[in-house]
Amino acid sequence: MPNKIIIVSNRLPVRVSKSNNAISIQPSIGGLATGLKHIHEKNPCIWIGWPGISLEEVSWSERRYIEENLAERSLYPVFLSSEDIENYYYGFCNSTIWPLFHYFPEKARFEERFWHAYQRVNELYLNAVLEVYRDGDIIWVHDYHLMLLPLLLRQKLGNDAPIGFFLHIPFPSSEVFKLMPWRLEILRGILGADLVGFHTYGYVRHFLSAVRRLLGFENKLGRIFIEDRVVLVDAFPMGIDFESFVSLLSDNEVRRKIEEYKLSFQGLKVILSVDRLDYTKGIPQRLLAYERFLSKYPEYIGKVVLVLLVSPSRIGVKEYAELKRCIDELVGRINGRFSTLDWSPILYVYKFTPLQDLLALYVVSDVALITPLYDGMNLVSKEYVAAKEGGDGVLILSEGAGASSELVEALIVNPNNI
Ligand code: UDP
Ligand code: G6P
Repeated sequence: MPNKIIIVSNRLPVRVSKSNNAISIQPSIGGLATGLKHIHEKNPCIWIGWPGISLEEVSWSERRYIEENLAERSLYPVFLSSEDIENYYYGFCNSTIWPLFHYFPEKARFEERFWHAYQRVNELYLNAVLEVYRDGDIIWVHDYHLMLLPLLLRQKLGNDAPIGFFLHIPFPSSEVFKLMPWRLEILRGILGADLVGFHTYGYVRHFLSAVRRLLGFENKLGRIFIEDRVVLVDAFPMGIDFESFVSLLSDNEVRRKIEEYKLSFQGLKVILSVDRLDYTKGIPQRLLAYERFLSKYPEYIGKVVLVLLVSPSRIGVKEYAELKRCIDELVGRINGRFSTLDWSPILYVYKFTPLQDLLALYVVSDVALITPLYDGMNLVSKEYVAAKEGGDGVLILSEGAGASSELVEALIVNPNNI
């Protein structure tokens, strides 16, 4: 293989599951998988990441089978034990960093055992990269799960290895970031990279000010001088692969679904809402706003439908299970209050929606209501705009989404203002 890009992220673009002793492989959900998929497909590339299943769930022969199957797609799996999944993935990643970086410090749990697991798993990823790295390769580390990895790689490979790091979630104000007990280790870990990228200039500013205040390194136009190295920090807002995305619109199956949905939503204005189940996405606030809309403008009763797609995510974390109950209750209350015998205001689907269905829904929806409280970027908003070939359709977008810095023609709203 010629020189290659090594993408390293916690999650691979596919997730492996096992049921009734059969292994199956499906696409992963989330902006990281969507955003990097095409780079991986169109370049000499290996993608290292967790296949979404625990070490204990698979036998040796199943593990070999998964490794071989993924190798054909240039994917290299890192298997995590159920203990690491508990303490690293559900723990440090999704119960410490995720809430803190999205400005929910009251939900952030600072536990030593989480931190130790985080260090241990970052070392596992180091070993995986060292297995496949050859001189001349570019290493590109992604997201909050692997913030120690750039420095670990630098220590092993020296200054010549090109290492990039990209954060897919917000980098919070330094006042919030500094609440983290292991803040110095995390900043030093990221600064092991040559190039550090964020979705927006706001996140870049927060990072640079945390580096200045906590480590004492000044920067010149985003360049930080650390001993004999220079680290460049900049904004690289992630997009979708527009050409590939739009070409899918002419897929026969998508066209068939568009006709099917047009028929079933005939006579209704369709408002679309699509998210992973996550308390950062502002789903309860969105439902309250829709309830207010129906009570303030009763002339819309029977004429509008909110298609609420929620995809299960991180259900092992208590907050996610609580959010699910809260959404179920709100949907029940609103549907109970406004439904008539032949119409319901909310069509609620709690499962992963495949891309073909999503595309068809983007096309037939009159409005996309995308109101996260905080969101690193939000690719759903970009997909909605890209799917609107004729240019009609309204995007209502939260100012808390990174995408709002770019999609300035959208109706920009404060998601807390019901
Ligand atoms: N997505 C999907 N099926 C779903 C929900 C989401 O395929 O049921 C995809 C969606 O098309 C988008 C990505 O998952 O590409 C979500 O990315 P986004 O940046 O909006 O949010 P994230 O989940 O990364 O927080
Ligand atoms: C966000 C994160 C990604 C993550 C995705 C899905 O987009 O930035 O790193 O993969 O959510 O979350 P999950 O926990 O299922 O990987």
